Amino acid sequence: MLLYHNYIEQAISIMTTFIIAALTADGFIGKDTDHLADWTSKEDKVFFSEKSKKAGVLVLGHNTFKTIGKPLPDRLNIVYAPEGTVIEGVEVTQKEPKELIEDLESRGFTEVAIGGGSQIYTMFIKAGVVDTLYLTVEPVIFGAGINLFNEQIDVRLKLESEKKLNDNTILLEYKVL
Ligand SMILES: NC(=O)c1ccc[n+]([C@@H]2O[C@H](COP(=O)([O-])OP(=O)(O)OC[C@H]3O[C@@H](n4cnc5c(N)ncnc54)[C@H](OP(=O)(O)O)[C@@H]3O)[C@@H](O)[C@H]2O)c1
Repeated sequence: MLLYHNYIEQAISIMTTFIIAALTADGFIGKDTDHLADWTSKEDKVFFSEKSKKAGVLVLGHNTFKTIGKPLPDRLNIVYAPEGTVIEGVEVTQKEPKELIEDLESRGFTEVAIGGGSQIYTMFIKAGVVDTLYLTVEPVIFGAGINLFNEQIDVRLKLESEKKLNDNTILLEYKVL
């Protein structure tokens, strides 16, 4: 049994699962559930696009998907939404994060981009499957809104790299310890 568990853990660890998010300087990812993330810099949009295309899979929640309105091109779009929801060009799922990652791994993927929103980021970090966080801090303040995570969690991080994307925007890469 222990061997079996070790095997499963190993199998999961082959996959890199990363959270990718843009934050305001006061730590919000949006003003409300239907706020389109159009306030981010052009450099962050490029980073998001390149990184999620390279991964080949982008996982989103239904609220975030509805703000975008259509699948993002050149990558598999997986959307968490209620059973029976049909969205053209998108795989709809209700799977537990570990189950989804195992499924993607069996299909040959080696990286998964978790693109939010807050409910989805929280579900994945709580499931213990996130290796890396890419957090872009934008020079914007909302004062109130939606946090990156929406429950109490305790996760320790190591700052792996920091990069200025432009004069006012910084990209932080954290590894989950
Ligand atoms: N700044 C950024 O980088 C960034 C990135 C992404 C999103 N955002 C922002 O985040 C906000 C949206 O976040 P959010 O937390 O409200 O919503 P969300 O995480 O995008 O989506 C939540 C919805 O997904 C569905 N869902 C969640 N777990 C599920 C499960 N296990 N099975 C089936 N369906 C499931 C439910 O849809 P139903 O309600 O239909 O049941 C739920 O209401 C927006 O403001 C958006 O702009 C910001």
